[in-house]
Amino acid sequence: MAQALKSAAKYPPKTVRVKIKRYSPETGREWWQVYEVETYRGMTVLDALLQVKEKRDHTIVMRYSCRMGVCGSCGMVINGTPRLACQTQVSMVASEENPEITVEPLKNFPVVRDLLTDFTSFFEKHRKVKPYLIRRDTQEQENPKTEYRMTPEELLEIYPYSLCISCGLCVSACPVSASDEGFLGPQALAQLWRYTADVRDEAWRERLEIADDENGALKCHFAASCSAVCPKAVDPGGAIQMLRSALLKYKLGLWKKRKISEPVPPLEPTGEKVPLPPEAQTLPGVDLEAMEREPVVIDASKLLD
Ligand code: SF4
Ligand code: FES
Repeated sequence: MAQALKSAAKYPPKTVRVKIKRYSPETGREWWQVYEVETYRGMTVLDALLQVKEKRDHTIVMRYSCRMGVCGSCGMVINGTPRLACQTQVSMVASEENPEITVEPLKNFPVVRDLLTDFTSFFEKHRKVKPYLIRRDTQEQENPKTEYRMTPEELLEIYPYSLCISCGLCVSACPVSASDEGFLGPQALAQLWRYTADVRDEAWRERLEIADDENGALKCHFAASCSAVCPKAVDPGGAIQMLRSALLKYKLGLWKKRKISEPVPPLEPTGEKVPLPPEAQTLPGVDLEAMEREPVVIDASKLLD
């Protein structure tokens, strides 16, 4: 992120050579194609690719959607590293001295065409780890009237892993996934730990069995390249280590889940007035308490004048 912010302040070289790896499923041919692209400050690699597609060669195939690092669909290998094309500024990967950007499809995924990869097996592995809460008593899930309470500390234990956007960059960087198609992979295993550690989930024994599978957590070599490339700082390598440690301790009879949260009625509003924080009182010229007493109404017709 710090690198992205620094890069946003930089100008990219005026023109970059975008070298794209192409693939035609009809002929089975692979080849590199180079396009010159005029850049602007803030241009992302996805912007550069779209400019090529719109103005130079509409046959290039790629996947993207949100253009803001949220949907996880624009993963590709840029200058040798798996990255989100929409989150990678041209100025991060090209310079006046080396104004060339190479773009390839994600590794460890079958290529459909050009930069488009097939995520079927990736999502099958995600499904295998049952990425949802499992309860013995399903009353709350089927007829939600209460809530599962968790403390902020319990939430923090799983929060980083819940930020995964299923972009597949970690799988593309994983040396075990490269050599073993059956390996569940860093994304699915990180989600397996996320649900194993969640105090609202009751299926931790079943989840540890999935981790213990021959394609599960014990296959990880802990290269940690998954964590190095994750655009959301999920740290799948760390999650796999947590899972592995829980599994080994469980087998030795030293680990079991400390707590399963029970459904409880939602907290009733107490009516108690929460005081404004001290810094809020010091805003010059703004009386927040008066605003609370009489909410400000903005006349929309005046805004249009
Ligand atoms: S763990 Fe990170 S790199 Fe892997 S799929 Fe999730 S967001 Fe992408
Ligand atoms: S287009 Fe959605 S993450 Fe890049």
